[in-house]
Amino acid sequence: MTSPRRARGVTDWQRAGAAGWRAGALLLAAAAILGLTPRAADPAVRGTAEAQRPAPGCNPHPLALREPARQPLSAVAQLGAKLFHDARLSGSGRLSCASCHSPAHAYGPPNSGPVMLGGPRLDTPGVRAVPSLRYLYRQPAFSIGPDSAGDNDQVIPLAQQAAQAAASVRVRKTAAAPQSAAANLVPQGGLFWDGRADTLQQQINGPLYNPLEMAAGSPARVLDRLRTAPYASSFVRLFGRGVFENPRLAADEALFAIARYQIESPDFHPFTSKFDAWLAGKARFTAAQLRGYRLFNDPGAGNCAACHLDTPTRDGLPPLFTDFQYEALGAPRNPALAVNRDPRYYDLGLCGPYRSDLSRQTQYCGMFLTPSLRNVATRHVFFHNGVFRSLEQVLDFYVNRDLHPARFYSRDASGRVVRYDDLPPRYRGNVDRVDAPLNRRPGDPPALTRAQIRDVIAFLETLTDGYRAAGR
Ligand code: HEC
Ligand code: HEC
Repeated sequence: MTSPRRARGVTDWQRAGAAGWRAGALLLAAAAILGLTPRAADPAVRGTAEAQRPAPGCNPHPLALREPARQPLSAVAQLGAKLFHDARLSGSGRLSCASCHSPAHAYGPPNSGPVMLGGPRLDTPGVRAVPSLRYLYRQPAFSIGPDSAGDNDQVIPLAQQAAQAAASVRVRKTAAAPQSAAANLVPQGGLFWDGRADTLQQQINGPLYNPLEMAAGSPARVLDRLRTAPYASSFVRLFGRGVFENPRLAADEALFAIARYQIESPDFHPFTSKFDAWLAGKARFTAAQLRGYRLFNDPGAGNCAACHLDTPTRDGLPPLFTDFQYEALGAPRNPALAVNRDPRYYDLGLCGPYRSDLSRQTQYCGMFLTPSLRNVATRHVFFHNGVFRSLEQVLDFYVNRDLHPARFYSRDASGRVVRYDDLPPRYRGNVDRVDAPLNRRPGDPPALTRAQIRDVIAFLETLTDGYRAAGR
């Protein structure tokens, strides 16, 4: 377990960091950029200056946004960097955080397996796709309904929050007014596909001790390895001589250092994509990228921005392409996962099996966190169970899930297609069929044509960090 002191330490640090950000000028709302209806505009920041005729593909209203400050890493974060790359912490001695969260792959998985292998002998397959560790620095704590306190303390118990939520009406999600869904009393925030950890430090306990992942054993074993590590002396310098007397304390400090590394290092939130350069007026979209961007934001077409928010926040923070909320999209069962050989096994996301506090809130069964789409084009597998192997497949699923279900789902003994086959029948009603583009019924025209799907993918490719041509 995480000591509350440290959990809070990280939050306080994040707050201090936020306050220290150089104030950037938010010049114009995104609605103007998009050329969409003014409905999409945030009235607080809506347009002032008239657009000059921009160069084709250029953002007519360049924005200066508040990115995290770039400062040299603190001593604790430098130690965290070493720990992040240190395979000796793992039971096998061959697996570090970086093995699964590869720095060369936006801190996502380095290979194209649906899951990574872990465990003491490095032969135990994981159960979920490895997410990117980038852009988690603004992930709010888990709550049901808006995280009003902005704090880690859960004032109202989750069960009570869920009961209130059950009585409330959910706003349909539309890219024309994406922020309006933020007030929905739905699960939001947290880390992992099911939000079961609140802070980066708390989270790391998971993979470090998880027998499927680093299988580090006990804090005592972690302590043994720390004591003999080349950085043992900096450990003592930073945390005091007593740190190696207490295994739990030593392991907690190690996790704290890794969390600090993820929060402080700009490499975890670089904002160097072509999209960022374009927002700042320093890059031009190709015609296909611009078309894709419009479709991504068009409530009648992709409607992607309804959940993968792509406009700056009111206080000028760059968009992270997630609303931090949870949805049941009905991803097909992935036969490549070893756990799925057991027909009784289901990964129900929010309601289990990897968290148990919401297991009785069956309205949430099948819901998973909406991931950021930054760097998504660098991935080889998609969705929580890694069932899709390309962005084409993902888009095909969004557009044709209910139009051509046979393309995605397995068949039962009598040959009937089993829609939403990765959920037990009683939870299939939780699957989102109201938010475009998932609201189509057989016979409806698809939300996107094949050519439009290619355009959306061209836009998604602009979200990959490391774009240099604009001289950033
Ligand atoms: C064997 C592969 C593996 C290793 C090693 C590993 N992870 Fe992970 N990591 C995963 C998987 C899989 C998930 C998603 C699990 C889930 O959602 O239940 C994950 C999730 C995370 C998340 C949450 C990301 C999000 O978007 O919510 C963080 C943060 C994280 N890992 C950090 C670490 C750190 C730090 C280490 C080293 C101490 C580490 N991981 C080691 C596979 C791994
Ligand atoms: C109703 C909310 C919602 C809408 C609308 C939506 N998404 Fe998603 N998206 C999600 C959720 C939730 C997931 C994760 C689902 C899962 O793993 O089961 C996801 C996952 C993804 C992924 C996989 C990311 C990864 O790291 O595995 C991609 C790519 C993606 N969405 C793109 C899009 C595009 C493009 C559109 C528009 C055509 C779109 N989404 C519309 C909620 C949404």
